[in-house]
Amino acid sequence: MSTLFADRIKDIEPFRVVEILDRAKQLQAQGRDIIHLEVGEPDFETADPIIKAGLASLARGETHYSQAAGIPPLRQAISDYYQQQHSVDIAPERIMVTSGASGALLLIAALLINPGDGMLMTDPGYPCNRHFLRLVEGEGQLVPVGPEDRFQLSASKAGQHWQDNTIGIMVASPANPTGEILTREQLNDLFQLCQKKQGHLVVDEIYHGLCYDEAAPSILEITDQAFVINSFSKYFGMTGWRLGWLVAPEHAIPDLEKLAQNLFISSTTISQHAALAAFEPETSIILDQRRGEFAKRRDLLLPALQKLGFDIPHKPAGAFYLYAGIQKFSNNSSEFCLKLLEEHGIAITPGTDFGRYLAEEHVRFAYTASLERLEETVKRLELALG
Ligand SMILES: Cc1ncc(COP(=O)(O)O)c(C=O)c1O
Repeated sequence: MSTLFADRIKDIEPFRVVEILDRAKQLQAQGRDIIHLEVGEPDFETADPIIKAGLASLARGETHYSQAAGIPPLRQAISDYYQQQHSVDIAPERIMVTSGASGALLLIAALLINPGDGMLMTDPGYPCNRHFLRLVEGEGQLVPVGPEDRFQLSASKAGQHWQDNTIGIMVASPANPTGEILTREQLNDLFQLCQKKQGHLVVDEIYHGLCYDEAAPSILEITDQAFVINSFSKYFGMTGWRLGWLVAPEHAIPDLEKLAQNLFISSTTISQHAALAAFEPETSIILDQRRGEFAKRRDLLLPALQKLGFDIPHKPAGAFYLYAGIQKFSNNSSEFCLKLLEEHGIAITPGTDFGRYLAEEHVRFAYTASLERLEETVKRLELALG
């Protein structure tokens, strides 16, 4: 029997933070108190009304496949949400419910990419994006972005990096690992560039509900020709329910439905019924309180890290991440993270998980722990670095 696997496998990299997680678990098993700031998911349990709706759905026996594009009331609820949040009219028919934003990314990659095609994306950025493209024989074309760009992709930089095989741009706003957003003007410039080049624009808006100063603009306020990715994972706190959505131009929907039927048959039916409760006013109150809590955490951790000597030149507007320069302390982010874990019980993610550019000089703090735990983090860091 052959022991060979497809060539793509060697190009798909594991998360290096797994090493940190494994070691954290070992240390915890030995009785050590570990502060977890490495995980990219809210620490809160799913809000009660959503859980109740999920239980009720189970009790009603909604345990069968559903429509490939999602149950109609959920597509309608998402459409209403766009009207309420962004004052845009998105026909429910343009909304596809997916298995997390991950399912949406896979559908979009399968829809857009021919072998050898590339899409521009930021370095640092969410690492799975380039892997989704690789899976369909395309490539992520990484554009180095630094603090001077607020780690976001400008149209001028995208124009400079556009190659013969580039078919479009994928950006996230707010972004992982930096929490930085794209302004309406920047989004518009990226859209204009894609129009000029006859390319595609994909905007990942998964952290949209988690903006602490002003709401991030949606590309849907500018055009109905972009692809938008979103999810119930982050603001809605439903990571384990595996539910997200995408909004596509109308002409793309029949092909996306065809792909969804073949790849997934449908998204999880119970999760979809549960998610209907995510838009109820009683849930919004809970989720907005949690957003307030995240804002307090950012406002505690950011100045404390800056005071300690971490380089974070700009206050990120959203998500729950701080991407911190460690130039003062180390030029090896993995080593720095392992040392903080071993000696001080703080688990964070090395920059090398998010790309190559300045990756050894950065680490990501996810403020997915309580204010008390963050205060304890600062104390431990003072001891470690002071
Ligand atoms: C930018 C970004 N996009 C997509 C995802 C995938 O999220 P999910 O599949 O849970 O919706 C993540 C998860 O961390 C992310 O940070």
